[in-house]
Amino acid sequence: MKILITGGAGFIGSHVVRRFVNSYANYAIYNLDALTYAGNLENLRDVENRPNYTFIKGDIVDEAFINKLFKTYHFDGVIHLAAESHVDRSIADPLAFVRTNVIGTVNLLNAARNAWGADFLGKRFYHISTDEVYGSLGSEGLFTEETPYDPNSPYSASKASSDHFVRAYGETYGLPYVITNCSNNYGPNHFPEKLIPLFINNIIEKKPLPVYGDGKYTRDWLFVEDHAMAIDLVFHKGKNHQTYNIGGFNEWQNIELVKLLCNLMDKKLGRLKGKSEELITYVKDRPGHDLRYAIDATKINKELGWKPSVTFEEGLERTIDWFLNNKEWLNHVTSGEYQKYYKKMYN
Ligand code: NAD
Ligand code: TYD
Repeated sequence: MKILITGGAGFIGSHVVRRFVNSYANYAIYNLDALTYAGNLENLRDVENRPNYTFIKGDIVDEAFINKLFKTYHFDGVIHLAAESHVDRSIADPLAFVRTNVIGTVNLLNAARNAWGADFLGKRFYHISTDEVYGSLGSEGLFTEETPYDPNSPYSASKASSDHFVRAYGETYGLPYVITNCSNNYGPNHFPEKLIPLFINNIIEKKPLPVYGDGKYTRDWLFVEDHAMAIDLVFHKGKNHQTYNIGGFNEWQNIELVKLLCNLMDKKLGRLKGKSEELITYVKDRPGHDLRYAIDATKINKELGWKPSVTFEEGLERTIDWFLNNKEWLNHVTSGEYQKYYKKMYN
């Protein structure tokens, strides 16, 4: 089986590539990534020389290139993760999100459709999406696969649009697809612009921890390896033309999570209890900030037997240890362009 994984040099994509390369010696895994600021081949050092792994640098928006790629390699499956993924950047530059998340996805759909012919036998297009397409919950309730789409940020609007295109290609052309909508991931290799890795980095550097608004926003956190496990399962066992929600059964208010992180980091760094909490700084809220996300992952649990395997305590500890043991990785990604981004966003 030849599988194209897009965005494999990014945070979640690198864990998916590693899992597939390690688990399926008889598959050929092709990682297509444009290596934007978020893509980093250092994430895949341990598998880069494996015989079943090939890296291809390229942009999913480049129509001629994508069509040629499908004609050259005859992929059996696509696992599509490439995206612009950060809400705050989408507020600053929405068009970049339309370009990659919408046009890039439609390019891939067209290329798959053209290359796979009419019967689509043995083929699968797997689109990775987010719970943010469902909009915001109040203090009660959970997102199910039936929750109507109601995206609020340019990021979630672009992901919702790409989900609709994937579904439409299933309905219109019979393309065999599957979509998963997952909650917030965390773990090793997470780019330090998202809450958990940004705050780990700032605690190490004793920099302010910018909590948006009153900090009472709630997210449902899942360890990235458990997401990769779910993706493996859905790719092999999920039903065509279906959506599955994936979540951590693990809701945290931002401020409570930040305090937990501060305590764990104080212990790891040998600092006095309460020291890192002094860095908490309430800043201007994100516009259109969704109050709460929480996933009902009953369907994937009942149909495919998936549930998270890593507790939050264990996952956070492994994440912190990874960042403390990979200072070189952190230094590489937080130099140059990152400094300009940080100044623009937070000063
Ligand atoms: P990321 O930003 O860490 O990685 C995205 C990757 O895509 C990078 O390697 C980047 O170089 C690549 N890329 C970007 N534009 C490209 C283009 N035009 N052509 C080719 N490659 C391109 O993102 P992530 O957090 O790993 O998210 C991966 C996917 O999972 C996304 O589709 C995202 O919407 C989805 N998702 C993320 C989360 C989360 O918590 N991070 C949760 C649910 C769903
Ligand atoms: P983030 O990691 O950007 O993920 P998402 O917006 O996709 O859920 O943010 C998680 C939560 O943390 C969200 O409620 C916004 C908040 N947040 C802050 O309070 N400060 C920050 O500097 C960042 C990046 C996020």
